[in-house]
Amino acid sequence: MKKIILSVLVASVTLIAADSATVYKPGLLLPANGEAIYKKQCASCHGEKGEKIAFEGSIAIAGMDKVKHAKELKDYRYGSINKYGYGAQMKGKLVDLSWDEIDAVAEYVHGLK
Ligand code: HEC
Repeated sequence: MKKIILSVLVASVTLIAADSATVYKPGLLLPANGEAIYKKQCASCHGEKGEKIAFEGSIAIAGMDKVKHAKELKDYRYGSINKYGYGAQMKGKLVDLSWDEIDAVAEYVHGLK
């Protein structure tokens, strides 16, 4: 019996430790972490600091106004904008994010230089 209790304890401590190491994981109810989401979902195309141009003619997003940005991301998520014909790439990255997470990403990008 003692052994069982001990192993349950060890297992739960391991779970808690693993949980606190998680910065961003879809489906987990953690506070929205704009930086972690940006690095996982956006940096590959827009650059670590929002300095890259994802598509010829598009803008570098660093420092963008957060209200305008959040609105645009929600529109891409919904599929109601497609500025250069590549909106589907954006939708794919946003469809699993909540409104809170999108706001947090927009806030983070606003702080990038
Ligand atoms: C697979 C590459 C890719 C990823 C990942 C990606 N984007 Fe984009 N992004 C694009 C492309 C391509 C466009 C142009 C879409 C269009 O045709 O309207 C774009 C457009 C944008 C625009 C509008 C730029 C302009 O010129 O007005 C913003 C803002 C933006 N992305 C932010 C983000 C954010 C924030 C994330 C992460 C949640 C993200 N993107 C993830 C490729 C990507």
